[in-house]
Amino acid sequence: MAAPHPVHADVDRTDDWWRSAAIYQVYVRSFADGDGDGAGDLAGVRARLPYLAELGIDAVWFNPWYLSPMADGGYDVADYRAVDPAFGTLAEAEKLISEARELGIRTIVDIVPNHVSDQHTWFRSALAAGPGSPERELFHFRPGRGERGELPPNNWPSQFAGETWTRVPDGEWYLHLFTPEQPDLNWDHPVVRQEHEDVLRFWFERGAAGVRIDSAALCAKAPGLPDADEDDTTLYVDRDELHDIYRAWRAVADEYGGVLIGELWVPDPDRFSRYLRSDELHTAFNFDFLARPWEAAELRASIDTTLAFHAPVGAPATWVLCNHDVTRTVSRYGRDDTGFDFAKKRFATPTDLSTGTRRARAAALLSLALPGSVYLFQGEELGLPEADIPLDRIHDPMHFRSGGVDPGRDGCRVPLPWAADAPYYGFGSAVDPWLPQPEGWAPYAADQQAADHGSMLNLYRRALRLRRAGPGFGDGPLRWLPAAPGVLAFSRGGGLICVVNLAEDPAELPGHTSVLLTSGALDDEGRLQPDTAAWLRA
Ligand code: NOJ
Repeated sequence: MAAPHPVHADVDRTDDWWRSAAIYQVYVRSFADGDGDGAGDLAGVRARLPYLAELGIDAVWFNPWYLSPMADGGYDVADYRAVDPAFGTLAEAEKLISEARELGIRTIVDIVPNHVSDQHTWFRSALAAGPGSPERELFHFRPGRGERGELPPNNWPSQFAGETWTRVPDGEWYLHLFTPEQPDLNWDHPVVRQEHEDVLRFWFERGAAGVRIDSAALCAKAPGLPDADEDDTTLYVDRDELHDIYRAWRAVADEYGGVLIGELWVPDPDRFSRYLRSDELHTAFNFDFLARPWEAAELRASIDTTLAFHAPVGAPATWVLCNHDVTRTVSRYGRDDTGFDFAKKRFATPTDLSTGTRRARAAALLSLALPGSVYLFQGEELGLPEADIPLDRIHDPMHFRSGGVDPGRDGCRVPLPWAADAPYYGFGSAVDPWLPQPEGWAPYAADQQAADHGSMLNLYRRALRLRRAGPGFGDGPLRWLPAAPGVLAFSRGGGLICVVNLAEDPAELPGHTSVLLTSGALDDEGRLQPDTAAWLRA
């Protein structure tokens, strides 16, 4: 093991902060532009750290900031030990990590083990070295099928629609579950395993408190890469071999008191919770909750299943309403179909933003009161809607690979509005930002909302402050309380009660001594209006 980096020295190894943390996701390219070139960067984040501290979050998860050609928003990493020059330098990342820590904010970095960029030295060397070379063994190179090898080696579907294999000039094909610019690594190879353990160490030694593991359920592939039966994903998703990989990662993380967070799209809750056994990952994103529609029975079922499957492995649950891959919450909750499904995303879906916003406010109080840790995606605290991106400005490969049917994920990745009256809403750019901001976003700007007591920003600030200081929040037990149909009511420790009204009529509040916070005004009779939540103290 290399000598510990000085920044690492102040990481608390015994603290289990992650069991209850509120974690803010920063998509660097769209957070704040420090050098005016149209894209967000580390200088922009550093300048806005006081905003994050005031918001009251415990940690920041940064989407990948490494050297990357940006074929998939940085999830095509060319060098894990370098920061992309568009974002800044490694020295700046180190400064950012320690400055954040001084403000009480921990840093979580994003590691992408399933694939690298086609510009990574490993892949370039593999291409140059040719068929049968040891360099090619780090990836999944295969001869094609058909008389002249003109057919792909197997029938696996891509995670992004479109082809899963690309043929190189010497006739071999390589596997990529995402874009051709993201060749999949061969996780049976010891060099691949060693390299990732070294990368974990590299970032823990620079003060990272945790690691988000991208596409964590995909790395292991069935030996021989056989054809899959229709709809059978077991040859490349959630394979048992993964658990050994993450046990080895856990041993590395434990050396540093670091935390591992899995991006696991594994629908079976039993299979999901296996990754959270005490010698594997600490937590994983709860996408079941994210995907559920705005209906009391659906959300309650998700909460119950989540808690039931986390309890036996002793892991805290997580709660996520949106991220850089999915439709923004206020838009989703304002549509006919309030659930989330990648396969169903379409252009111009009718959206009632006032209903969506009311529900998103209630959902914020719900998720912040549930047991475990909670994630919020930049701009969620501003109530940003999903933006319509003009066709000629779309970057996301998901749009192009869908044949233009899926609008892609850029609509939730629009540069943040910081100041209502400044050019580009104060994002910091001197030129048109990399994604256009919609007209009429001034009311969403952080400065405008800071001055408005009833804004989404002030709701989040008050809620996060209460959540930090008050008893009953974060990890711990939950008990359902009797409630009218369509109403969710539960108590936590310390007399904390959360009530959410998803019904069409006002709901009586359960017995309480004080109202801590509501997501919208109570009616004249002190009842909770539809699509509204309240925190009470009994
Ligand atoms: C999941 C990431 O969140 C997403 O943005 C990315 O496109 C894929 N993994 C591939 O890395």
